[in-house]
Amino acid sequence: MAATFARTVDILKAVAEPTRLRLLLLLARQELTVSDLTTILRQSQPRVSRHLKLLTEAGLVHRHQEGAFAFFRLGDEASVHDLLATLGRGLDDPEGLLAGDTERLGAVRQRRAERAAVYFAQNAAEWDRMRSFSVPDAVVERELADLLGEGPLGSVLDVGTGTGRLLELLAPRADRAVGIDASREMLQIARAKLDAAGLAQASVRQGDAYRLPVPRASFDLVTIHQVLHYLDDPAAAVREAAGVLKPGGRLAIVDFAPHEQEFLRDHAHQRLGFSAETLAGFLRAAGLRQTRLRELPPANGRADHLTVLLVLAERDVAMSQPNLVPLAAAQEL
Ligand SMILES: C[S@@+](CC[C@H](N)C(=O)[O-])C[C@H]1O[C@@H](n2cnc3c(N)ncnc32)[C@H](O)[C@@H]1O
Repeated sequence: MAATFARTVDILKAVAEPTRLRLLLLLARQELTVSDLTTILRQSQPRVSRHLKLLTEAGLVHRHQEGAFAFFRLGDEASVHDLLATLGRGLDDPEGLLAGDTERLGAVRQRRAERAAVYFAQNAAEWDRMRSFSVPDAVVERELADLLGEGPLGSVLDVGTGTGRLLELLAPRADRAVGIDASREMLQIARAKLDAAGLAQASVRQGDAYRLPVPRASFDLVTIHQVLHYLDDPAAAVREAAGVLKPGGRLAIVDFAPHEQEFLRDHAHQRLGFSAETLAGFLRAAGLRQTRLRELPPANGRADHLTVLLVLAERDVAMSQPNLVPLAAAQEL
């Protein structure tokens, strides 16, 4: 819906300051913390926080506290997204101010990705044991199979496949099953497991969840199982997954519900779980229609164990391309 005249004046007032415009152009690309923004803008934290507060109060930016970290993202107002998309495309930048921001945003992303890669490289062999920290695998797998229903699955892509557990589970029902993961060590284990299981229709390859190395609109089912909380831009990964779904194809996401196990950040968790609303927002922004949601609390009721959410969504047959503005911006990096 178009903004009213009065609201447009308010938006323009909030935007019309150099630091705030830079902040907004960055947040139009992805969610960031104050510390990320301070590094990127090379300005003091109080100054960056002051501008963020003003933008939040003006309703242009949404603040979300997760344990010790506050994440900022652009609010949902369509007119603000449109304005920034237009500005982002058309701004001349002779002093390289915005180009510098883009470069430092790239460095922030790179550092995070490296931290996660080091962690996964060190923990590949341990991973199968560590993943049972929450609801037992067997319970999650049963629920997922139930959500997917009976019958052949067609072509399956498992994003962030790790040691390939979902491929083992789903490949017997698929024409072909492909696992993508950033970590070579994880894929080594996955390959060994798939060979041992004799699953010739399953294969894995190294690749990035943000730029899946597969053709667009080519899979009937994409799964993202316990991966989104490791990503600095989970919404972009969901959009990318939507882009490789055939019309009528389905996306299944399994991840933790919001929790307070702050120590998991030391295990490369960027996000302490996701609410059902947050996941629904990622799906909507990717042009997908959510069809099912299940919540699995830890069977033993232990407070230090985590609830798991499963969501299933569908790409409508007649769906137009998902809203690609933020992803297109991210691809400049
Ligand atoms: C917690 S493991 C989950 C593995 C598997 N889906 C499972 O549930 O057993 C997360 C996996 O995501 C992978 N990963 C993290 N960031 C990634 C990225 N940007 N692109 C592809 N894989 C990524 C890691 O290498 C790791 O194998």
